Amino acid sequence: MLSQAAQSIQDAALAAVADAADGEALSVVDREFLGKGGQVGLLLASIKDAEPADRPRIGQEANALKQAIGAAISERREALSGEALAAERRADDFDPTLPAAPLTRGSIHPVTQVTRELEDIFTSMGYAILDGPEVELDYYNFEALNIPKDHPAREMYDTFWCDADMNLLLRTHTSPVQIRALETLDPPFRAIVPGRCFRNETTDASHEHTFHQMEGLVVGEGITVGHLIGAMKTFLRELFQRDLDVRLRPGYFPFVEPGFEFDIRCPFCADGCRVCKKTTWVEFCGCGMVHPNVLRAGKIDPERYTGFAFGFGLDRLVMLRHGIDDIRHFMGGDLRFLEQF
Ligand code: PHE
Repeated sequence: MLSQAAQSIQDAALAAVADAADGEALSVVDREFLGKGGQVGLLLASIKDAEPADRPRIGQEANALKQAIGAAISERREALSGEALAAERRADDFDPTLPAAPLTRGSIHPVTQVTRELEDIFTSMGYAILDGPEVELDYYNFEALNIPKDHPAREMYDTFWCDADMNLLLRTHTSPVQIRALETLDPPFRAIVPGRCFRNETTDASHEHTFHQMEGLVVGEGITVGHLIGAMKTFLRELFQRDLDVRLRPGYFPFVEPGFEFDIRCPFCADGCRVCKKTTWVEFCGCGMVHPNVLRAGKIDPERYTGFAFGFGLDRLVMLRHGIDDIRHFMGGDLRFLEQF
């Protein structure tokens, strides 16, 4: 049994706790009863004026009050935070029974898709898949490809330079990996190089600063243009699932001799359409026989070995395939475009 004084403090405290509408009001109650100079404190301080016989009882009561009021405050605090949460949920119209938003899955980029397909085709034909740096040396991108510093062919390749000395650049094609392959592989070998390339040109529906190419390089004894045409027709047959007529026109690239533009019969029409611009032919790639200077740069004896090389745009191939009319979609990052594949 508490003394009357203690009992009235406790009653007042518990009533105030029950009345507190929020955390702040509770803190006021806490201070008023349990804080320094609070009511429980005063009760304790009254010990020194009390009869010695009463002192232990007063001490015990003060402690009992401290505990009872403290417990009531924390209990109320917890209840209040639950109420606050519930109120917030009501305000949000939070409905825990609604199904969650659907998870959307990503998809493989169409250029990656066609790259993988081509990698499958070429590996089945005995080709290795090679890789090279996107930040390249002038030496590999130009010099060793028979394009010295003052060569006009450099104008074909608007270049992003990475340093003031013009030694480092973003590769403008995958051909520098030809040199890296010649340096490291012993002929005979067959390889393809899929990769990202960069050109510093004004973008439009058919030009993008970042695009993708696939290079091919085959080197061995007695390799001829016949092998080049045979290899191209074989992989095109696999890719389009039928035989396509092809045609070679003379084309100039300093790292091949002779060099060709390789055209395929339009896969979409018999007598001219938008894709082939009414010509029934579609430009497919540049190619040719590896120039002796290039073989020499790769420490391969051009008297003993010959080779062919080709390079085509992967983005363009995907555009042909899916009837896409603007190359800028590929790097545009618009999910509405990407989700279609
Ligand atoms: N690298 C050339 C280009 O990007 C294409 C090419 C590759 C031509 C190999 C011939 C041989 O324009």
